[in-house]
Amino acid sequence: MTLAPGAFAATSEEIEKRINSLLQKMTLEEKLGQMSQAPFPPNLPDNAKKEIRKGRWGSFFNAGTPAEKTEAQRIARKESRLGIPLVFAQDAIHGYRTVYPIPLGQAASWNPELVRQAARMTAREVASEGIHWTFAPMIDIARDPRWGRIAESLGEDPYLTSILGSAMIKGFQGESLTDAGSIAACAKHYVGYGAAEAGREYNSTWIPENLLREVYLKPFDAARKAGVATVMTAFNSINGIPATGNVFVLRQVLRGEWKFDGMVVSDYTAIPELIPHNYASDMADAAYKALRAGVDMEMVSTAYYDHAKALIESRKLDPKLIDESVRAILRLKFRLGLFDDRPAPRAATPLAPDALEVAKKIATESFVLLKNEGAVLPLAKSARKIAILGPLADSQKDQLGTWAMGADEKAVQTPLAAFRKILGTDRIATAPGLKNSRDISRDGFAAAVEAARSADVVLLFLGEEEILSGEAHSRAFLDLPGAQEQLVEEIAKTGKPIALVLMAGRPLTFHNPATKAKAVLWTWHPGTMGGPAIADIVLGNSVPSGRLPVTFPRTVGQIPIYYSRLNTGRPASENELGIPLGNPLNPQGYTSKYIDVDFTPEYPFGFGLSYTKFEYTNLRLSTAAVRVGGTLKVSADIINAGQYEGNEVVQLYTHQIAASVSRPVRELRAFQRVHLKPGERKTVEFSLPATELAFYNDQMQLATEPGKFHLWVAPDAVGGIKANFEVVR
Ligand code: GLC
Repeated sequence: MTLAPGAFAATSEEIEKRINSLLQKMTLEEKLGQMSQAPFPPNLPDNAKKEIRKGRWGSFFNAGTPAEKTEAQRIARKESRLGIPLVFAQDAIHGYRTVYPIPLGQAASWNPELVRQAARMTAREVASEGIHWTFAPMIDIARDPRWGRIAESLGEDPYLTSILGSAMIKGFQGESLTDAGSIAACAKHYVGYGAAEAGREYNSTWIPENLLREVYLKPFDAARKAGVATVMTAFNSINGIPATGNVFVLRQVLRGEWKFDGMVVSDYTAIPELIPHNYASDMADAAYKALRAGVDMEMVSTAYYDHAKALIESRKLDPKLIDESVRAILRLKFRLGLFDDRPAPRAATPLAPDALEVAKKIATESFVLLKNEGAVLPLAKSARKIAILGPLADSQKDQLGTWAMGADEKAVQTPLAAFRKILGTDRIATAPGLKNSRDISRDGFAAAVEAARSADVVLLFLGEEEILSGEAHSRAFLDLPGAQEQLVEEIAKTGKPIALVLMAGRPLTFHNPATKAKAVLWTWHPGTMGGPAIADIVLGNSVPSGRLPVTFPRTVGQIPIYYSRLNTGRPASENELGIPLGNPLNPQGYTSKYIDVDFTPEYPFGFGLSYTKFEYTNLRLSTAAVRVGGTLKVSADIINAGQYEGNEVVQLYTHQIAASVSRPVRELRAFQRVHLKPGERKTVEFSLPATELAFYNDQMQLATEPGKFHLWVAPDAVGGIKANFEVVR
């Protein structure tokens, strides 16, 4: 029977009543079973069926065919003592069968609506296979590109991550969790995982409370406000206490301050990892500390199932904590409608045309034009012959990026395939030059050079393979791997204009190769439709509008480097490089700089070029002095002074000049995408409540402090037009 979506969306009172009555009937073993999650047992063998009948598991994730899930659920509902349904989860991080750009790429679109649509399409594909829950969005703030999982993040800024993470949650969860096309979202990894020291995976994080609250917790607070159904704990320790046993962030903040009533799941074996963290002495202690902190469901490991009973019997563990966790798990299942014959999965064609259309559109909007000397892009119609070179010009797998386990790789349209489809093969010369991005052999160079010589222009596809990106793939060097730089050198010797098209799961350092190219187009790992999207941009059917959601360093030695830094007591200025000649005691030299590289980034947060040129003028404020409880209205005119229609991402930044705690030189407060035809002028307006300027002051209270501010309406985190205002009591 298929009920209308929401027909059984019981009220929270009804759900709590049903939870209570069920809880009273459950044995301790059944409760601990609900708190246990495992990978779906391949082929659903008999012993797994027996365990399901016994109520040994509350959830399975990844693997398992739709038919196997249906059978597993039938057994849970019809053959177990209490008929408690299983909840099935999947890592659908940036798509499932259809793959969208990696989240860091989606963030570069600065387009919440498109991000929401991509998540909605993903939910449709996931739910159609009988899966109820995705382990996404990953909303860890990432400011260190050595960390492989920056690819999964939405970048360095808490405001942008909050907006886009909430958009993903709305896409996954829709209007109602009981809708056949909705799945529960999971805000992860709670919390601070992206601050791993030295960018080394799973490493310790040291985060002072004000930074923790203002930067790392902020997106999770937004996720909670967006109604996220679940949260996943992180692998890292925070100031010496592992996130998965951390009472402060899990009990005091998440449950206490934020009143989160969703479900908390550990990350993969993160509970027993409390032992190597030197935080738990053994498995029983690990189980105790995770339960004490409020981790409801244990992923993969069995510390809860094996040790909670003895902890209760020895009176070390209050059984009420078990009941609290089981409540949270049952609440999720009720909210998903799993007890009430949730509508049967709605059949959905994988890679449906509308999904591919969204995948192409968001990929197109994610690309960031970093350089375009002499307007070599879009390619002139006169470019009769194009050389399409490089190991990433035709690699279906690499284009998908990390965490694309459900992807239909064969469906991926590569740039080479897309250009051939549009231009025909006789206008294209092609050679990979290298077998893959790590290849150090020059055996393929000659063919690539020859192809370049035969063409009018070179599109050179380089970067980082997907296998070099993602979890447990931290890198200490960010240069182009393998012999890619040497390949650029050799191609440059032909004198042909080069457009570098770079694919990667993180910012890389490529200053020298970029000097050899007329244009640089940054395309992240662009997903299933990356090829057609790149072809559209390169051929001028679309105009680049992507803006960097993360700072690109000049060199790995600058990391961590991010725009919302503090000014220091001796701020450096740009181009203040080297040892000043003359007086060695020259006081100008004593500033917060490097002597061997400019302290500024290669490309700043928010940066991106267009084929057209946008001008900013006529910045106006509603008042020069806004009350602490008031709202400042800001407007500015944006003019398209170029020849192409285009989208501009207009960004609003503020800086408080003096406060009880030093404030960053800039903080992103708002942004708007605006579409302008050549010659068109539009007024962009922002409303900035003074409460948005609040920070954790020297008493660790969240408050807006009166004082003087700078404000910018800007195309990125370093430029723009500037005004001053004051906050007054
Ligand atoms: C992984 C990841 C997490 C993922 C989980 C399940 O180790 O840290 O993001 O959702 O395990 O695959």
